[in-house]
Amino acid sequence: MKSILHEGWSFEGIVTGSQQSGMGKRNGGVGESIIKIDAAPKARGEGIYPQDFNLEGQLYASVVWSQYPHAKVCSIDITKAAAYPGVVKVLTAGDVPENSYGINFPDQSVFVVAGDKVRSVADRIAMVVAETHEAAREACGLVEVKYELLPVVSDPREAMKDGSILIHPERGDTNIIDKIKIRRGDIQTGFEEADVVVESYYTTQAQEHAYMQPDAGVGYIDDKGRVTVIVATQAPHDDIPKIARILQVEEKDVHLVVPAVGGAFGGREDMQTHHLLAVAAFVLRRPVKLVFSREETTMFTGHRHPFYMRCKSGATREGMLTAVEVEMIADAGAYISSSIWMLNNATSNAAGPYKVPNAKIDSCAVYTNNVMNMAMRGFGAPQAAFAYEMQMNKLAVALGMDPVEIRMKNLLEDGDICLTGKPMPEGVGVKETLKEVALKAGWKQNGTHWEAPQVPVSISPEKRIGLGLSTSYKNVGFSFGMDDYSKAIVELYLQESGQIDRAVVKCGASDLGMGAQTALAQIAAEILDLNVTKISVPVLDTADVPYAGSSSASRQTYTSGNAVYGACQDAVKKLQQTLRDETGELKIIGEYEFHTSAVRPTSYYAPETGECEPHVSYGYTSQAVLLEVDVETGETKILKLWTAQDCGKMIDPAMVNGQVAGAVHMGVGYGLMEEFIQHEGVPQTRGFSQYMFPTVLDMPEEMVSINVEVPDPTGPFGAKGVAEMPLLPTAPAIMAAIHQATGVWIDTLPATAERVWSRLNEKEKSQE
Ligand code: MOS
Repeated sequence: MKSILHEGWSFEGIVTGSQQSGMGKRNGGVGESIIKIDAAPKARGEGIYPQDFNLEGQLYASVVWSQYPHAKVCSIDITKAAAYPGVVKVLTAGDVPENSYGINFPDQSVFVVAGDKVRSVADRIAMVVAETHEAAREACGLVEVKYELLPVVSDPREAMKDGSILIHPERGDTNIIDKIKIRRGDIQTGFEEADVVVESYYTTQAQEHAYMQPDAGVGYIDDKGRVTVIVATQAPHDDIPKIARILQVEEKDVHLVVPAVGGAFGGREDMQTHHLLAVAAFVLRRPVKLVFSREETTMFTGHRHPFYMRCKSGATREGMLTAVEVEMIADAGAYISSSIWMLNNATSNAAGPYKVPNAKIDSCAVYTNNVMNMAMRGFGAPQAAFAYEMQMNKLAVALGMDPVEIRMKNLLEDGDICLTGKPMPEGVGVKETLKEVALKAGWKQNGTHWEAPQVPVSISPEKRIGLGLSTSYKNVGFSFGMDDYSKAIVELYLQESGQIDRAVVKCGASDLGMGAQTALAQIAAEILDLNVTKISVPVLDTADVPYAGSSSASRQTYTSGNAVYGACQDAVKKLQQTLRDETGELKIIGEYEFHTSAVRPTSYYAPETGECEPHVSYGYTSQAVLLEVDVETGETKILKLWTAQDCGKMIDPAMVNGQVAGAVHMGVGYGLMEEFIQHEGVPQTRGFSQYMFPTVLDMPEEMVSINVEVPDPTGPFGAKGVAEMPLLPTAPAIMAAIHQATGVWIDTLPATAERVWSRLNEKEKSQE
């Protein structure tokens, strides 16, 4: 089966368009902008994504989804479906050795068991496997299910109340999955010391990952008898124990092959098709292909958690924060997925990148009958950032103080104590990002005093113009006591002279399209002093490359970058020894396993105070938005956006800018239009025709991006991470601009034309 896969990636031809940012030679190493290792085959449209694979004797699968968000399943009758021409097997719970699973806690079922209940419309009743895709689809409609409807709980604020209908009665007498609290200083004294206090209630929406490549893959038994899944995943090695548990086989009998991933954004952190393909191949011993339609990918895979947040912040006349109180409720949907870890992250971020002497934070994640929510770019931080930045902008207005000035007074620096009581690790560049953005957007600095530029006057009376600003931060890597690690192997192939001829970098870091494999090759090029075109990366097969953890938490450049760095150093050391020994060895293998616990151990929240060493490292972003609001229609148009980010040393500036543009795109969508809508647990958004994300016409007419490189000494060459951070400040900066233009605050995301228009009309009514 190996022959159906490409051998791996190598750079095609010399790196053109390379721009140095000051490291060494022009060999495509660290600091140069080069053409991505996978760019050419992707541009040529070569069939390299999981759904492009077709194996001999392949069958086709199609899923029977629940018809209701909450119902008892009295019976499942597959007789008619099984008899449909072309159908090979209708898989149900009885075919699965261990039916329960979950990324963090096994509260999901591969297939619903008759007698149990469905908890969301994304629950699976069965999967039809047939000779053709059409037959599989048709037969799905013939599976007969008798339901007894149960009341639906779709609002976590209702679901968390005592006496609510329970989604998982087997898990105890509450729908609350987890609660966290942070108590810092004395909150009462903090508010007494404040000259101004602002209080607001914020809600954020479910956002769809909307990756271009739908969930898809092929499962088969390989020539060594192993269950093999070709699939797009963020965490191939982490999927193995989950699949092995479901199949009740040993982990060595399962492997995943990741030929290419067409976007993920957190959405491929959970298994979507992986386990279904594994079960089908395991039971049928034949290759099985499963491709979700766009509707299935949109409706039945998770989204960004909606949050409900009550915030109260106090500051002195001079603009110093005295107290921050936050209550956050996250809608987990029907299953836990990564909600507990996401809540950990959101909670530690609740007060923003600011020095807060007194804080009281209470957060919880709650089961509902909505489709399970899951990891999405920012992982709880964008929701928190929306609230704390709205609060900062409201405080600035309440104090009559410039929004840059109030932030500069409170922003964290190296060694400052964070919300959970520990000093910030070296490399805090948040002030630098804010300064750069403010100066580029026209602010004037006079010592600690900042003055905003005059906003241009609109050419027509119904159009108003506003300028808004925001800042934020996000952790890099896995936090709260997890020992985040990654391993790399570097093979050097030598010429007769002992010179390095070429190198192979082996590391299980899944490249979701962001260029992880290119960045790792660049780090290797730099250390090996080898042109990057001499470096190749094999196709990601978990059986052939070492563990690198998930491509999430903006961590691969930092974590796997450190592993490749160490492996190359090891190889160079061995190379020198080999040359001295004159053994004539023609191949050298260097290896290294990087552990964050060795450089910056983290810890979990203390139960009463929440005190902990939360994160390993951070990245920072500040943004300013100039926009126009049509007060007759509520429509907005972003005229210009300035963004400055600190990701530490940029391994490849062009790829950093690609991440920034993508994150801003997602932030504009989050702020202005994207919303996955459910009514009583039933998706109303069924695909891309109803899910509004920004097109090129909705993007800022002009975008200025500035990179501030404040190194983290624990990162490879001082690199931190960039994938998530530039999404965070966009929505609150947009709201600040809308406020300056119109005088109204939009506290509910997204600021659609309808919502802006309604707020403007409410304001007019209240003035009549
Ligand atoms: Mo990402 S939200 O860290 O998978």
